[in-house]
Amino acid sequence: PRPADRAGDTGSTLVTGIGSLVTNDPEAGSGGPLGLLADAAVVLEAGRIAWVGPAAAAPTGADRVFDAAGRAVLPGFVDSHSHLVFAGDRTAEFNARMSGTAYTAGGIRTTVAATRAATDQALDANVARYVAEALRQGTTVLECKSGYGLTVEDEARALRIAGRHTDETTYLGAHVVAPEYADDPAGYVDLVTGPMLDACAPHARWVDVFCERGAFDGDQARAVLTAGARRGLTPRVHANQLTEGPGVRLAVELGAASADHCTHLSDADVAALADAAGTTVATLLPGAEFSTRAAYPDARRLLDAGATVALSTDCNPGSSFTTSVPFCIAVAVREMGMTPDEALWSATAGGAAALRRTDVGRVAVGARADLVLLDAPSHVHLAYRPGVPLVAGVWSAGRRVV
Ligand code: NIG
Ligand code: FE
Repeated sequence: PRPADRAGDTGSTLVTGIGSLVTNDPEAGSGGPLGLLADAAVVLEAGRIAWVGPAAAAPTGADRVFDAAGRAVLPGFVDSHSHLVFAGDRTAEFNARMSGTAYTAGGIRTTVAATRAATDQALDANVARYVAEALRQGTTVLECKSGYGLTVEDEARALRIAGRHTDETTYLGAHVVAPEYADDPAGYVDLVTGPMLDACAPHARWVDVFCERGAFDGDQARAVLTAGARRGLTPRVHANQLTEGPGVRLAVELGAASADHCTHLSDADVAALADAAGTTVATLLPGAEFSTRAAYPDARRLLDAGATVALSTDCNPGSSFTTSVPFCIAVAVREMGMTPDEALWSATAGGAAALRRTDVGRVAVGARADLVLLDAPSHVHLAYRPGVPLVAGVWSAGRRVV
């Protein structure tokens, strides 16, 4: 067999010599939910995992062999929350914040103006750039929202562009009330649930709403989510980010796939998320608290109550301008009470659960062959060595892409 190379996307690949393999299949190995295997091998074929087990028992005859030389291999990261269709940046706002100005989400309108003014090509190039950046850091599945257009045409355009880069597209026409409707928020909700939804539904899998003071209240959020659901879009909610509010309970009541942020939670919110652990994932986005200098969500409280927790980047130019899941893992471990094992699970299997995907987020026969090779002996180093570019290789659907 010839050594694995980047062009090799046909035939089968044996990845062997894996010092520590995270499978997220508790039956397959030790370490509880992570299903850890030492001295492991994986066979990738036709874009899927064809075999997983001890290296000593690996089948022979693969078209190429890659020797991990004792390093760690994990499922590709599943980033279930990002806002990548935008133009411009908000450096000045970030600078002001780091001098003491509070984050209010009012800056969304700055990005809306820049995004509306951008060409399709410029927006597409931006998304491509950030998707590639994420891939280099191990993200093999990435959800992407609209929400910086806020007109029928600009929201539909954002989703068309997002759809060229991912199947996980989310209609977020209800990000904030469009400036043209500042005096008529009810009129804007009618637009979002009417003509804008008509134009966007064909290009989206999910519907989202920013349920927050200054954005949309519980009744408006319910109208947006139920209208989307009637058009076949499954709800997910920006909930309880800046203040306690009705977002989390609404997400659970409507069977949303995810309640995202979950920074300000009452005991009742935590209990609701725990009861809904099989339906509604609590998606934590520590990049947002990092970049807005706010208190982090309490992952420990959610995990101890029994909620399903995902970790994602929330990449956007305002509150969290990072594509790095490894960064989010390190922060979640240092600041949010997560163990390195929990954080790794949340960034892979947790993200998959938040997207209702069973084909990604794990290394098991039949799953998509999305793997990350770390220049480290175990996944723990992602938190132990913060800020170090440890991702040394990425396979996406069986193909070596990094
Ligand atoms: O998830 N909270 C709403 N939306 C984004 C922030 C958007 C922005 O500031 O541009 C978020 O944090
Ligand atoms: Fe967000």
